[in-house]
Amino acid sequence: MDRPQIVAIANEKGGVLKTTTTVHLAIALGRRGKRVLVVDVDPQMHAARWLGIPPEGPTIYDLFVDAAQGIEPGIRQTRFQNVFGIPGSRLLGDVDRILAGYSKPVAVLAWLLGRYPRTGSTTC
Ligand SMILES: Nc1ncnc2c1ncn2[C@@H]1O[C@H](COP(=O)(O)OP(=O)(O)O)[C@@H](O)[C@H]1O
Ligand SMILES: [Mg+2]
Repeated sequence: MDRPQIVAIANEKGGVLKTTTTVHLAIALGRRGKRVLVVDVDPQMHAARWLGIPPEGPTIYDLFVDAAQGIEPGIRQTRFQNVFGIPGSRLLGDVDRILAGYSKPVAVLAWLLGRYPRTGSTTC
């Protein structure tokens, strides 16, 4: 299997088409047979609405709070072929305080995505 590629679409400014680009790119890649996981780390949480992800269950915020559980509990089916998603949360506005509890806060998402060496603990 090909090594997974990670694409980050980020900009502090709102209304610059981050969500639009993310969702359309994911759907297009899914149609071409790529398996895509959309991780919404925006407190606006709009990606889940576009993708038809039900709000019930763990969000990316919950995974940040308890990274030891891994990423799987947050992964949902969407209404698009080959596209899966992890919804955002309004609580992400407070995520700095949660991530401050980790020794390497910037590595937590990479760790959840399996791109950061797992040391047997979740100190990241
Ligand atoms: N092709 C387009 N032309 C003009 N407006 C668009 C187009 N595609 C999307 N929009 C609108 O632009 C607005 C901002 O897009 P969005 O992706 O939500 O921005 P962000 O995620 O960066 O805040 C939305 O209201 C969206 O409906
Ligand atoms: Mg957005």
